Order: sequence, then structure tokens, then C-alpha cells
Amino acid sequence: MKNSLLIEGGYPLNGRVRVSGAKNAGLVLLVASIMADGETILDNLPRICDVEVMVKILNDVGVNARWNEDGSLSICPPQGHVKVQTSYELSKKLRASNLFLGALLGREREAVVSLPGGCDIGSRPMDLHIKGIQALGSEVEIEHGFIYARAKAPAGARIYLDFPSVGATENIMMMAVKTPGQSIIENAAKEPEIVDLANFLNSMGARVRGAGTDLIKIEGVNELRAGRYAIIPDRIEAGTYMIAAAISQGDVLVENVIPTHLHPIVAKLQETGAMVEETDDGVRVRGGKRVNPVDIKTLPYPGFPTDMQSQMMALLSLAEGSSVIVENVFENRFQIVDELKRMGANIKVEGHTAVIKGVTTLYGARVKATDLRAGAALVLSGLAARGETIIEDAIHIFRGYEKISEKLCQLGAKVK
Ligand code: EPZ
Repeated sequence: MKNSLLIEGGYPLNGRVRVSGAKNAGLVLLVASIMADGETILDNLPRICDVEVMVKILNDVGVNARWNEDGSLSICPPQGHVKVQTSYELSKKLRASNLFLGALLGREREAVVSLPGGCDIGSRPMDLHIKGIQALGSEVEIEHGFIYARAKAPAGARIYLDFPSVGATENIMMMAVKTPGQSIIENAAKEPEIVDLANFLNSMGARVRGAGTDLIKIEGVNELRAGRYAIIPDRIEAGTYMIAAAISQGDVLVENVIPTHLHPIVAKLQETGAMVEETDDGVRVRGGKRVNPVDIKTLPYPGFPTDMQSQMMALLSLAEGSSVIVENVFENRFQIVDELKRMGANIKVEGHTAVIKGVTTLYGARVKATDLRAGAALVLSGLAARGETIIEDAIHIFRGYEKISEKLCQLGAKVK
């Protein structure tokens, strides 16, 4: 089956692996670039399925986006207007297409985006996105599964987010940078990808202050000038390879990271007994002989990232003792539990809490990737399992991990 990954477990990973650009920074910067006049060039964009779909959506709305010889991506919006409605066919493949809401309102004062269908990790509502763009002057109708928004007289406003939603913060920022007056976002998301978006917008002439804190101030400007920008490395890809080193009892140098972005992951991994040390251009991880049980609560940044929860669950399945994981960000992010149990894990789920009783051995099995990070976690359990693991629906994994087979094989894993 072409859409599967096959892993022969039991081989410790050794060597160096280079982290690619951050999926969740690249996706929002691709959309934000439609607001700039001229050609934007993005460096360090990972060539993953989600990015390819986003490139297709850009071209579909009339923005010329194409890869350059040097691996960068050029985005050239037209002189005139772009289509204000993203294609449903393409949008349903990529939840992040909802980020066109803020960028189209910023550029065209109008946007029609599809309400995202439910996905594997929760219902993914957009109430906070809508509250924000309405505060900035948009009239919003929701009909036939689409959000219709139009801002006849946009004006800066103060917006309080009930939850520090990453996407809502990004959509509001993108609309506000081109909305006259001052806007303030309170209880804003603080993820590194928010800071990267603010830096990118400011490099185009926007006036965003306070990104990375829970209070972001924006002074609207009339125009944004395109330029060249390199996106940050992917902290979740980095964390995934760090756990790969730990779970396989290997010794891996994960290169091209920003250490501060990894602190919550480093701290937890050290608690499990792995040796983790920061070098000037990476993080070296050596797996311990044993895995200590640890308790984890996922939280918005700088708490432990929900996008690393499944990967930690794979590691803790082999701990000497019981661990407790509480998922506080998404309402349904334990899809991986049933798959890990097929490999011999001993896990009990009660609502948002999973209790993992460590076992001595996991066994290879046929399993299914239900979402991107659960798929990545099954790769990790496959690396440590006795025998062969076949992961079906591996397309989920290719959505967010550039060249994952090559990178793992280069570290000594047996993956194809
Ligand atoms: C972003 O999703 C990331 N995706 C997710 O990464 C990540 O898990 C998430 O942030 C949290 O860090 C991208 O950046 C493309 P949220 P987003 O809005 O923006 C609730 C991955 O694996 N909420 O911060 O959709 C929501 O239901 C993906 O790379 C509302 O209630 O996340 C969820 O429970 C998965 N109302 C919580 O907030 C809203 O209007 C966090 O969602 C919006 C969100």
C-alpha cells in the first residue's frame, strides 16, 4: 500500500537530523503574504502536503504562488482584486484555510471561507475568530456552511479572547494590520508562530507590538510592502525527533532549532530520564536505559504543547510506572490510545485524562494514523516495538513532516 509506512523496530537512532521550517508558521505566512504589494519570497518553507495545498488555494484565488529553484517560494498577488471565496474542495483538505478570513478582510474588506468540518481532534469552532472580526467592523453571516464577512467601515478595537486561540489571534492580527486605528488583542496566543507572523508583518511595514505576550497592540497601516523572509524552525518536528532518540535509546543531535521554543519539551523529556543537552545549534538527546513515568498537562504556550501529547504518550507507554496525561486544549485528542493498545500498551481514558501504565514491551502491529500527531506518535512506538509495524493512512504524517522516511533512515531506523 503506497499510503503506508512500514517500520522494523529495535534499532537505536544515532546521528544528526536537521529540522525543517515550521508548518504552523509557514501556513499563516503564506496567507498573510496576499496582503503585501509585490513579490514575497519565503525561505525555509517545508515541502509538505499542507503547504502544497495552501499553495494551490493561493493560485485558485488568483495569487501567483510558485516554488523557485533555490527552494524558496514566491507569492505574487495581482494588482487588482483577488477572489474573496476560497475553494471548498481545497479548503476542506486544510483547516488552516480558515486563515484566509483575516487576510482577505485585510486586503479586500470581504471574505467567504468555509466553516471547517469537524476533524479528528475536536469540533474546531470559530466563535472567537468571528467575535474578533466583528469587533473590527465586519458584518458576518453564516449560511450553508460558509462564513460571509464584509467590513464596510473597519475600525480598530479592543478584543478580549476567552481562550488564547492561535488561529483567532492570527486572523485578528491579519485584519487589524490593515484596519485604521489602534487594535488591542487581550489574552492573545503567545506561540512562537504568532511572533513569527508579527515579525513577518512588521517586515512588510505593519506596526504590531507585544506579540509573544498576552497583549498585542496594532496600529493599522494603508499598505504593506513585500519582501523576503525566512520562517522559524518547526518546534514540534524537533520535539518528535527528540522523543525518537529517547524511545529508541539512541543518541541524536537535532539541528536547526530555537532552544527557547523547546523548553517545555526539554523539561518533560529530562524528567523521563533522557539526557538532553542544548548545543549552540541544536539539542542532543540520549535515551536512558529506563523511562521514568511523568505527569503531563497540555496548555497553550509556554505550557506543554498539545501537538506533542501523542508523542509523549508513545514514550510513556514504555515507562516503569504509571503516568497521567491531561489534554486541556482539544476535546478529542486521544485517538491514538486504541492504536497504541493494539501494540500492547496499557492505557485507560476518562474524559480529558489518560492513565498510562508502562509496559516492558510494545509489539509491532497494523495500526492507523488518525491525525497528524497521532501518526507521528505511531512512528515513535514502531521504532521501539518488537517486530514490524505498518501504519496505514500515513498521508496524515506526510502532511506535517518533511522527508520523514529519509530523515529516520539516515538516523539508522528501518523505515519504508
Ligand atoms: C493551531 O490550531 C495549530 N494549527 C494546531 O496544530 C495546534 O494544535 C493549535 O493551534 C494549538 O496550539 C495551525 O497553526 C495551522 P486554537 P488552531 O484555535 O488555531 C478552541 C498540528 O498538529 N477554539 O488555538 O485551530 C478550539 O476548539 C495542528 O500542527 C474555540 O473554542 O488552534 C480548541 O479546543 C493541530 N473557538 C482550542 O481553542 C475558536 O474560535 C485551541 O484551538 C477557536 C478555537
